Amino acid sequence: MAGSSPSVSELVTTARNLYMQVFREESPQVAVCAPGRVNLIGEHTDYNQGFVLPMALPLVTVVVGSKTSGKDVTVITATEDAGEPRRVDFSLPSDGSSLSPGLPCWANYVKGVIQHYRAPPLPGFRAVVASSVPLGGGLSSSASLEVAFYTFLQQLKPDDGDKVSKAVACQQAEHTHAGVPCGIMDQFVSVLGLEGHALLIDCRSLEATPVPLADPGLVILITNSNVRHSLTGSEYPMRRSQCENAASALGKDSLRDATMKDLEAAKTRLDEVTYRRARHVIEEIERTVHAAEALKRGAYKDFGKLMLESHNSLRDLYEVSCRELDELVSAAMEVEGVFGSRMTGGGFGGCTVTLLMAHTIDKAILHIQERYSGSPTFYITTPSEGARALTLP
Ligand code: GLA
Repeated sequence: MAGSSPSVSELVTTARNLYMQVFREESPQVAVCAPGRVNLIGEHTDYNQGFVLPMALPLVTVVVGSKTSGKDVTVITATEDAGEPRRVDFSLPSDGSSLSPGLPCWANYVKGVIQHYRAPPLPGFRAVVASSVPLGGGLSSSASLEVAFYTFLQQLKPDDGDKVSKAVACQQAEHTHAGVPCGIMDQFVSVLGLEGHALLIDCRSLEATPVPLADPGLVILITNSNVRHSLTGSEYPMRRSQCENAASALGKDSLRDATMKDLEAAKTRLDEVTYRRARHVIEEIERTVHAAEALKRGAYKDFGKLMLESHNSLRDLYEVSCRELDELVSAAMEVEGVFGSRMTGGGFGGCTVTLLMAHTIDKAILHIQERYSGSPTFYITTPSEGARALTLP
């Protein structure tokens, strides 16, 4: 009933065939992939130095390609993206100057990763990209492209292999070349994701604790609302600066260091919106730690309750949900055997994530389909491995 996505090897075949067709060459030398992610809980906490609990998805971005002798780069994408050109050509700057962002937009992730690659200078290359991560769906298609590209560059010219620094370099690429001041969650889990586990990431120390999530009686269902509201661009940086203002009004480096007691004591000095934003973050950080403990104990009911509290807080206090996401969450919560459901990712559209008993999955999908006013896409998913090199056939 849930839509099926191309497998990693199908994506490699697509990319490899396109490579051989366009460049009239033998097979490419290198293939890599990096996953998208779904965040189970801990939303808008990463850039506040808090905790997040995402897992890597079986949906991935694949890059195949080969080194060339000069400094020229050609990248082709097999994916249609808002009518943008699918091919980009540029030269690597030889004098250490930077690669400026431009059009097509998708190529900025590639340029950003080249710019922040930790073992310059790089050789020229030809590459083809193919992805099963839905674009703009809140499942980190952009982080998976950045991390896949970084992993590709590592095959052409190895860096020191430090995984956390790799995630940070990819986050920098997003800041400087896509103009999104994102936190570290998406790139981190795309690099370090583990099969059968969610990762409890401390976004201050950049340490991660794997939390087993492979109970065969349990299913993680992602529902794509298939809407993306145009607010996304401006609202994310606005939330981030509201949090920074709140932290400095409380005399803290970040909201990670603040407690609800601190916030209540400062309430009269804060405007109402700043108070609500800070309250979401402080409580969400605590919820995330409790949720990870509940998952370790197999206390799915407790976990589900925290998911729903997280959604309600994102809707009412942080104001990043929307009608479609609220509808999907309410519909899911009406089904017996569903433990919890919430919006996932930045918000204003994209996906929800639902934790439910395996035997109830068909009923849940039917019910959500019936109740949702739009047309949803479903993914039944499992925690998967982070970025990796692949062997070509
Ligand atoms: C986006 C950002 C992440 C994180 C989430 C919200 O996905 O890329 O860093 O801030 O939003 O939790």
